[in-house]
Amino acid sequence: MSGKKGNTSDSRKNRSDEQTMRDVQREDAPVLKIEHMSISFTQYDRGMHQTSLPVIRDLDVEVHGGEMVAVVGSSGSGKSLLAHGVMGVLPYNADMGGRITYCGEELAKERIKKLRGREIVLVPQSIAYLNPLMKIGPQIRRGSKATEARKKLRGIFRRYELDAGVEELYPFELSGGMNRRVLISTALMEEPKLVIADEPTPGLDLAVAKRAMAHFRELADMGAGVLVITHDLELALEVADRIAVFYAGTTVEEASVQDFEHEETLRHPYTKALWRAMPRHGFQYIEGTQPYVKNLPTGCSFAPRCPHCGAECAGEIDYRIVRGGKVRCIRAE
Ligand SMILES: Nc1ncnc2c1ncn2[C@@H]1O[C@H](COP(=O)(O)OP(=O)(O)OP(=O)(O)O)[C@@H](O)[C@H]1O
Ligand SMILES: [Mg+2]
Repeated sequence: MSGKKGNTSDSRKNRSDEQTMRDVQREDAPVLKIEHMSISFTQYDRGMHQTSLPVIRDLDVEVHGGEMVAVVGSSGSGKSLLAHGVMGVLPYNADMGGRITYCGEELAKERIKKLRGREIVLVPQSIAYLNPLMKIGPQIRRGSKATEARKKLRGIFRRYELDAGVEELYPFELSGGMNRRVLISTALMEEPKLVIADEPTPGLDLAVAKRAMAHFRELADMGAGVLVITHDLELALEVADRIAVFYAGTTVEEASVQDFEHEETLRHPYTKALWRAMPRHGFQYIEGTQPYVKNLPTGCSFAPRCPHCGAECAGEIDYRIVRGGKVRCIRAE
């Protein structure tokens, strides 16, 4: 009997130890971890044959609490799809593979539904995400009439030079820049653990763009994981901790902001080309264009534009750790 009791309390203790271990692991776990993400679209060509268009392949990104990661890459490289994949808002003809974990646990469909707009917020790229039939104030407060919510929104609007009257307006009555500031306000209304901001700054003047980036930085400093998608590498380098570089539907490099101080500390030829294209480094033009998914070369997607490419670049290219960062290039050392 007593043995039984001992066993029960032992197993209870073991269970609570396991629970504690899991809690510790969760605390240490990245807020967001994306492993081998793939997204493809089902399309029908003229003969009504079904084809699959793989627009994201083997994409890895992770963001820790207190960290701001900027995703940079050319248009069409899959940045918005990454955001929509995490948020569970991909179009119906998209098929997603790979694994997404949030605070150490899988982010399944039901879970993201519960967390979306609360713990996990998206600042979408397009102002088309605002409801055109709903006044701005109730829309951003998500219908809440509580004095607290109203006060908070007033405060946020003041930061973005939007006057209180804007709350009573519809999105079509605002300029593009005002709508963009309204979109940014949605992220600041909640106390999110994960913020994904998809190109939050176009159309804003430099001072407001910097203020917006500084606010995302503040959210990270308060403990949130922040993923900012941007074309503006220069602005990203001022506020982010790490940069993830996208090319043709995958991550080609993850580097710390310090790595961008010199070209030699970067790892991938595309990242180096982006570095040379920055105004302060001489605005050097990158020859060629990013291949469309239907015409991807085998092996390295950047090979056709790469000055260092050789026959071996047509083989499989692993994403590997080099000098504390990650790179998808066999030549990087
Ligand atoms: N609904 C869709 N059906 C088919 N292809 C799509 C669909 N949505 C996006 N794509 C393709 O997926 C690729 C990545 O698109 P995505 O919008 O993620 O690019 P992006 O990096 O955000 O570009 P930008 O910097 O212009 O915002 C593009 O080639 C695009 O044409
Ligand atoms: Mg986009």
